Amino acid sequence: MCGIFAYIGQQNAYDVLIKGLKRLEYRGYDSAGIALLNKGLNLYKTKGKVTDLEDLMKDKNKEGNVGIAHTRWATHGEPNDANAHPHYSLSKKLAIIHNGIIENYASLREELVKRGFVFRSDTDTEVLIHLIEDIQISEKVDLVEAVQIALNEVIGAYAIVILNKDNPNELIAAKKGSPLVVGLGKDEYFFASDATPIVEYTQNVVYLEEEEIAIVNIKEGLKIKTTKNKDKTPYVQKLEMSLQALEKGGYEHFMLKEIYEQPRSIRDSMRGRLNIEGGIVSLGGIIDYEQKFLSANRIIIIACGTSWHAALVGEYLFEDLARIPVEVEYASEFIYRNPVIYENDVVIAISQSGETADTLAAIELAKSKGATIIGICNVVGSSIARAVHAGSYTHAGPEIGVASTKAFTAQVTILTLMALMIAQKKGTISKSRFYQIINELNVIPAKVEKTLKASEKVKAIAEIFQDSRNFLYLGRGYNFPVALEGALKLKEISYIHAEGYPAAEMKHGPIALIDEQMPIVVVATKKGTYEKIISNIQEIKARKGIIIAIITEGDKRVKDIADYIIEIPDTDEVLTPLVATIPLQLLSYYVAVMRGCNVDQPRNLAKSVTVE
Ligand code: G6P
Repeated sequence: MCGIFAYIGQQNAYDVLIKGLKRLEYRGYDSAGIALLNKGLNLYKTKGKVTDLEDLMKDKNKEGNVGIAHTRWATHGEPNDANAHPHYSLSKKLAIIHNGIIENYASLREELVKRGFVFRSDTDTEVLIHLIEDIQISEKVDLVEAVQIALNEVIGAYAIVILNKDNPNELIAAKKGSPLVVGLGKDEYFFASDATPIVEYTQNVVYLEEEEIAIVNIKEGLKIKTTKNKDKTPYVQKLEMSLQALEKGGYEHFMLKEIYEQPRSIRDSMRGRLNIEGGIVSLGGIIDYEQKFLSANRIIIIACGTSWHAALVGEYLFEDLARIPVEVEYASEFIYRNPVIYENDVVIAISQSGETADTLAAIELAKSKGATIIGICNVVGSSIARAVHAGSYTHAGPEIGVASTKAFTAQVTILTLMALMIAQKKGTISKSRFYQIINELNVIPAKVEKTLKASEKVKAIAEIFQDSRNFLYLGRGYNFPVALEGALKLKEISYIHAEGYPAAEMKHGPIALIDEQMPIVVVATKKGTYEKIISNIQEIKARKGIIIAIITEGDKRVKDIADYIIEIPDTDEVLTPLVATIPLQLLSYYVAVMRGCNVDQPRNLAKSVTVE
């Protein structure tokens, strides 16, 4: 979703900003723009990609050491040049970039129009900058005070940075509901939606808190105030992200790199948390909240997208191992349906980015009802990581491909550890079963590595089905969420319609779709409901559907009925999602590449969805 990047310092701002925008591309966007302060405050923006912006800038003056830049994911107003950020104030003395949504923009706009303001775009952002300038002039206050007054008038979410023609030494930023990081270099400062464009310049960052305003003056440094004018002391943190993690490292796409990183990211997510010899699973971040789990009558897991699929695996794990009832909720539905939340509920919020607006809102709701909130996030210091009572980070490393892959398996790894830890403490798992699972968990990275070797086979299957218009994905038990995730991956990046379904439910609807054109991916590992899924496969064959089966290595029965098979190593049923997901990620990847799709930045999608 929208990416903010701003710079003030000694370097050429244009070069720094363009590089930064490229780092932010992964968030998803449809237009880009930049404002530079050189001979005046100049603003350039265009529909399309950052390279289109570079083309536009070819013959323009790129001098100057201060500027703001933006990649926009359209919300209010279509993705065109006029709606792209930055936006000027009426006098063109101020320029703003914004991430988030000003919900009361329509009434504010109406008011401003009545007072003679002319709008150049359809955006809510332009309303905000006009409002700020209006306050500055009519109330005769300085820019910081005008920003404070304006932000107290707006309803909604924002991360903003403002460039002021009259003060080339200063940038002003503010945040509520949308993330904003300040990077502190040597005589230079950065503002960004996330740390990815900052890490190559400095490791020192300050994450702005809700309703904080950061004022960076090149001579005086960083000052933080709140919108209510309280002074705050900046809390400087060290980034642990490596620059290498943000590069493709020889892979054609980030997604492929991230698929291949999974043996390592799963291992990293277990590191220090799984002690095989001692028979201990311990997630340090939630130890103090163990008792809350033990006395919980139920667990509610909230998430969106791929993280929601991980949540479903979590439901199976917690119910199976720890015998705690679990409800899995789409964060967006949870917020608006007046849910029943008890004080002794444990709410687990799962989010790769830690910035998903719906998940964040669901957390706040559950918190207000007194529930205990546990986070599972990938991005250190993210809004969700800071909003929860306690939590465990996945250690998947930065995920750049919009379609989530390694974050999913890392989330499932953490959920497995969590369920095992609680089950052990609760006494709902026998010692032998506990050891069986942890020993197998320990070899999962090697099994994922082995599964990745099936990539040529998967590629050959992708070749055959690349022009299919529909796909069905079926699974049962632990493989049901795997089927959902497989279908989501395919539709996200190849734009082929794909549906995931519990295999037995197929006969209550989707069976009507089956004909000799329909590829059906069945996750049919030799565990749990194996016999039942064979019956489901027979039902499909009887209707001439084409079966692509994910099977356990050496399994002859499904092999004989299926049209195509992909073998995966045998593992414990509860750990199957960690392995069975891999070929489905590869299948969607190869199909998308063969169809010429932009795998890492699929159309309309955003990596981090910071608006509701
Ligand atoms: C977006 C991304 C998905 C992701 C979902 C939830 O839709 O494109 O890949 O699964 O948001 O994101 P989160 O960061 O909360 O896991």
